[in-house]
Amino acid sequence: MSLNDNRDVTPWEVSESLGEGDYVRIASEFGAGLIDSDLRNRLEKLAGGTNPFLNQGVFFAHRDLNLALDDLESGKGFYLYTGRGPSGKMHLGHLLPFMFTRWLQKSFDVNLIIQITDDEKFLFRDLEWKQLSQVTRDNILDILSLGFDARRTHILIDSINGSTLYRRGVEVARHINVTLSKAVFGFQDSDNVGKFFFTSIQSVPAFLVSSLLGRNIRCLIPHAIDQDPHFKVSRDVLPKLGYLKPSSIISKFLPSLKGGGKMSSSDPNSGIFLDDTPQVVRKKIMKYAFSGGRDTAEEQRKYGANPDIDFSFNVYKLIEDDQVKVSKIREEYSSGSMLSGELKSLVAEKISQVLAELREKREIATEKYDEYLFSEDRLIESFR
Ligand code: TYM
Repeated sequence: MSLNDNRDVTPWEVSESLGEGDYVRIASEFGAGLIDSDLRNRLEKLAGGTNPFLNQGVFFAHRDLNLALDDLESGKGFYLYTGRGPSGKMHLGHLLPFMFTRWLQKSFDVNLIIQITDDEKFLFRDLEWKQLSQVTRDNILDILSLGFDARRTHILIDSINGSTLYRRGVEVARHINVTLSKAVFGFQDSDNVGKFFFTSIQSVPAFLVSSLLGRNIRCLIPHAIDQDPHFKVSRDVLPKLGYLKPSSIISKFLPSLKGGGKMSSSDPNSGIFLDDTPQVVRKKIMKYAFSGGRDTAEEQRKYGANPDIDFSFNVYKLIEDDQVKVSKIREEYSSGSMLSGELKSLVAEKISQVLAELREKREIATEKYDEYLFSEDRLIESFR
């Protein structure tokens, strides 16, 4: 598997040159639709409020989102499914789909499955089980610190919930051949056979509820665009098993600090990690964050900055609850009355404040950890 066959994005690699201008093209190459203003308005109306991830265009594409909303309106309802591959420490980029998912869960009061694909990281990253179990627990606590509804949230860990996943995973696998896997994911003959199988396991939560309840309930999957190839395959296979195609709502990446590509765990200076201290956050933002400002203070005062390509502003607009404040900062920065250093300083402080709040909530999540873990009975019960 590699990017040398002209792919910009696979679930395991993203081109460093990927930029804002590429997303619409990639979504259309993948076959996903764009979220237009009508669809966004419909979603926000049903949710009873707006969300910066939507109105700032971060969640920008979808598959059959309208069908999930139809089911919501008709009373059939839907459930949410998202996930995390526990390869190491989580960064701000990983948190974004979970922040948006939490908003969806709160707005619609729906059940949520969070799949933790430790098997994926065993196969693709050569990590060992001992290391994976520590990272798994740490990542789950990071996710729970966002405050998901314990009654409605089900954390499914691949290596632990094997009996639920395996027998359904092979049902999917029977419909995927090697030619398709190679075409969709770019695998090579030298890749281990587990990689070819893995997408079947990531498909299971998209029909698990329907399988357990014995009636079809639609699944809506929030994720960044790298995961779309998996669900493209799920959408082909699930109807063959008698299930609905899952819907998805798809985001752009939070880029690396230096701009472009995606924030990645393999380079510590490419991102802000959830355990970064305020000093480290400040240093990374001041030193590395790509700026939309001008070369000199004088030029910036005269011509203003471009907030849309500015890393710090792009994070700020998502983590600041007060969107009036965001508009004010946008205006000051683009008009030149705010300089890059001032913006960076403000954003570094805001990020550290958010991280400190999450750390506090992580303590509470530690006590409630077991309540969130998946069991078939608890999942069935939450749909009664
Ligand atoms: P993982 O752990 O690579 O990423 C977790 C989630 O974060 C998204 N993501 C990003 N979003 C914004 N900016 C970034 N820089 C960034 N990097 C990653 C991913 O798209 C993902 O939504 N195989 C999956 C785990 C998984 C999953 C799922 C994800 C299993 N089932 C269903 C989404 C939906 C993985 O390794 O994600």
